[in-house]
Amino acid sequence: ADPQLQQRFDTTIAGNQRIEPRDWMPDGYRRTLIRQIAQHAHSEIIGMQPEGEWISRAPSLRRKAILFAKVQDEAGHGLYLYSAAETLGADRADLTERLIEGRQKYSSIFNYPTANYADVGVIGWFVDGAAICNQVPLCRSSYGPYARAMVRVCKEESFHQRQGYELLMTMMRGTDAQRAMVQDAVDRWWWPSLMMFGPPDGDSPNSARSMAWKIKRHSNDELRQRFVDMTVPQAERLGVTLPDPELCWNEQRGRHDFGTPDWSELQRVISGDGPLNTERVARRRAAHEDGAWVREAATAHAAKQAARARQ
Ligand code: 3HC
Repeated sequence: ADPQLQQRFDTTIAGNQRIEPRDWMPDGYRRTLIRQIAQHAHSEIIGMQPEGEWISRAPSLRRKAILFAKVQDEAGHGLYLYSAAETLGADRADLTERLIEGRQKYSSIFNYPTANYADVGVIGWFVDGAAICNQVPLCRSSYGPYARAMVRVCKEESFHQRQGYELLMTMMRGTDAQRAMVQDAVDRWWWPSLMMFGPPDGDSPNSARSMAWKIKRHSNDELRQRFVDMTVPQAERLGVTLPDPELCWNEQRGRHDFGTPDWSELQRVISGDGPLNTERVARRRAAHEDGAWVREAATAHAAKQAARARQ
């Protein structure tokens, strides 16, 4: 590459400035951004399924309206992120093909089943809480469109986390059976939520370059630690226990020590062998195929309008 262009890119990154779509950028920077943004978008879209299944079974109109709004937000986050990927030259249809053919990833967390309505609360509390820990630093990512998309997403994510925690608070003030449902959901979702942050830093092939390019601002382990430190007091206030016997406050570190997630489980789920990977991808494929006629009609209509405009 032209040394001057490389120099300008390096100065922009070093100065914590933003790289914009029309700026020159190393091919590797473009490629890793398309990789991460596409998989982030896929996560939002697949993430609509676990909770979407409960919209028709919400216990009240208020809960139904809240859950409907949240799932709709996730769709919007996905579209935002596909648009950010398109500013790098990616093609949205191609990205969807890669997702449904299993050639691109989405977050492991969405391959776990939702057993009952307490899961909807715990997903809001843990999964959207983890997403906040992960996405707030991304608001300072070096690629402009991605960072700006994150600002909007984070505002909605805090509503998602708050509604989940409030749902659980309500259940904890209910019957013993409801309290048992909340604790059971906490037990099932805690470790998979820690795995959302990715493999440990020593086993994270993308981290070094992503951090050098200021795409990733903190390591997987640092963000996982922040999530644990944020969640422990919330669990105490809620009156549930987190299923980790090694979890305890470490005065020297000023942080919580905690156990080691089962990294072989994360690798299994990432490679497609989680509880519901097949169902989640099949559902996305079916939605894509069932919607083909809408895309064809919209394309035909747009062509007619363009032809009319030329007359
Ligand atoms: N699920 C699926 N794949 C994962 C994963 C997970 N939890 N954690 C890591 N991986 C994959 C990575 O994509 C990478 O594979 P690839 O090279 O084929 O893409 C491989 O495992 C090694 O991981 P690395 O740590 O080297 O990869 P990254 O540097 O990309 O770090 C990441 C992984 C922290 C997820 C990072 O990509 C990231 O911050 N992505 C943006 C945020 C995101 O995607 N969040 C998904 C959660 S869903 C969400 O936030 C929506 C909310 O509404 C709930």
